[in-house]
Amino acid sequence: MDQTEFQVPQTLEDLIKQLHEIFSSDKINVEEVQTLMESYTSNPADWRKFAKFDKYRYTRNLVDKGNGKFNLMILCWGEGHGSSIHDHSDSHCFLKLLQGQLKETQFDFPDSNRKNRELSKKWEKNFHENQCTYINDSIGLHRVENVSHTETAVSLHLYSPPFDSCHCYDERTGYKNKVKMTFWSRFGERTPLETSESKENN
Ligand code: SIN
Repeated sequence: MDQTEFQVPQTLEDLIKQLHEIFSSDKINVEEVQTLMESYTSNPADWRKFAKFDKYRYTRNLVDKGNGKFNLMILCWGEGHGSSIHDHSDSHCFLKLLQGQLKETQFDFPDSNRKNRELSKKWEKNFHENQCTYINDSIGLHRVENVSHTETAVSLHLYSPPFDSCHCYDERTGYKNKVKMTFWSRFGERTPLETSESKENN
C-alpha cells in the first residue's frame, strides 16, 4: 500500500494530531504509522508532564484516547524494570523510545499440540532513542525490559484498538493468565488509588 505523505512532527502535540488523522480511517498502514512515530525527535519538554516513575515497577501513563480508535501512553521504566511476556489482545502495538534503551524479546505463542509448551524465543533486540518497533498477535508475544542498572527509560506506546486486558505467559510452561491493565496516571494526573490497585501487570 502507498504511504501517505506526512509532515515531520515537530512536537508530541503535532504527532498526536497526525495520529488522529491517520486513525480516522478504518484502514491502517502499519509502516506509515511506524515511520511517522519514528520521525518525531523526542523532546522531554513535550512529554515530561506525563512521565511518572514508580520505584518498584514500570508505570503506564495515559496521554491521549485517540477518539476511541487508539490509546497513546507513556511508559516509564526504572532501572531493571520489565514487563511479563504478553499478547496484545488482537490490537496493533507500536512502541517508540523517547529516552534511554529497551530490550525487546519476542516469543512464539505456545504450541497447543505439544506436551512441552515452553515458549520458544525468536529473537531479542535493543531499541534506542527515537526508534519505533511494532508487534501484533500474528507476529507473536513479547517482553520489554530496561536492562540498565544506571539509566531509566521512557517509551511511547500506541495500541489500536485500545484494550484494558491481555494475557501474560509463563515462559517455562506456556501457561497463560488474563491480566487487567491500568494507568498509573491519566493526562498527567495520578489515577486515584482504588482504581489503579492490584491485578495490573505493570
Ligand atoms: C510492553 O510492551 O511490554 C508494555 C506492556 C504494557 O502496555 O503495559
